Amino acid sequence: MNALLEDIRAGRLPDKPALARLVAAGAADAALRGRAAALARSATEERFGDGVFIRGLIECSNYCANDCLYCGIRRSNRGAERYRLAKEQALSCCAAGAGLGFRTFVLQGGEDAYFTDAVLADWIRAIKAAHPDCALTLSLGERTRASYETLFAAGADRYLLRHETADAAHYARLHPPGQTLASRMECLRDLRAIGFQTGCGFMVGSPGQTPETLAEDLLFLARFRPAMVGLGPFIPHRDTPFAGEPAGSVELTLFLLSLVRLLLPGALLPATTALGSLAEDGRERGLLAGANVVMPNLSPREVRGKYLLYDNKLSSAAEAAENLAELRQRLAGIGRRVVVARGDYGGQTLE
Ligand code: 5AD
Repeated sequence: MNALLEDIRAGRLPDKPALARLVAAGAADAALRGRAAALARSATEERFGDGVFIRGLIECSNYCANDCLYCGIRRSNRGAERYRLAKEQALSCCAAGAGLGFRTFVLQGGEDAYFTDAVLADWIRAIKAAHPDCALTLSLGERTRASYETLFAAGADRYLLRHETADAAHYARLHPPGQTLASRMECLRDLRAIGFQTGCGFMVGSPGQTPETLAEDLLFLARFRPAMVGLGPFIPHRDTPFAGEPAGSVELTLFLLSLVRLLLPGALLPATTALGSLAEDGRERGLLAGANVVMPNLSPREVRGKYLLYDNKLSSAAEAAENLAELRQRLAGIGRRVVVARGDYGGQTLE
């Protein structure tokens, strides 16, 4: 198995059965996970030194037209208390974030029909006019190619759209019939063709996931070569069909982070909120296993408790943007430091 890790690090991609065996072995073998983390960590430090990029996350709406079986803000969850930010609120989040040292803002939300192309283009122009030195990332789900083109032309730089799973049958287990892997993949291809720094990603431990579906995810990443990969454990939400399902494993999530780092050495890989929500030291362990980005919450305080994709989602302490001092301290504890820079993919990465 160690030879497979070396192969991936050297840019030789194992075939699907070998990748599935590697994933299964990593789930069971702490020594193998440790070896992968050590390799991934050295690959990260080689490229990024001790720097960690920060992104200010603005959760602009939890209205969603979709009905993903795992997600707490799915359309059929009548228990979710819905909200939508006003443009002025988003702008004051950005202003506060810029003052704290953020140079990337991430506008994230459900698929909310309020956000027409015209509305979003107006928001994007306003944010970019107020913060010309900052990057703007969108994470607003599936839209048409023409829509993505409008958003890019308005000035958005990056787009995050997790593929969730690269296995079509598994995708169908996680989503209602109207939502397909083919459509998700078309969006991702469009985004990249338009010129967005594009991110995909998946949950670890979602119901129906196997070493084979994870091997398919890794093969997809190797082919697509995204700029960013969002990867966190599945965590059940009480008002979803998956309420009774077990959460994903922190250890397996860390192992996959390491594999993704070895596969895509230059990728921007966040230690996700889900990882920090499941384990108190999850974010630090993610960074030590190959992650190089953290995304503190910059949403207005009064809505933070409402963007509940899963139970017990963290939005305070070092997860809150205004507590950057605590985050800095925690990073210092593992020999890392916050970098104040846009942190573009393939751009200058070291200060
Ligand atoms: N557990 C973990 N991650 C989740 N997401 C949605 N619901 C959950 C959950 N229950 C992730 C999905 C989605 C992103 C918005 O959040 O991967 O793409």
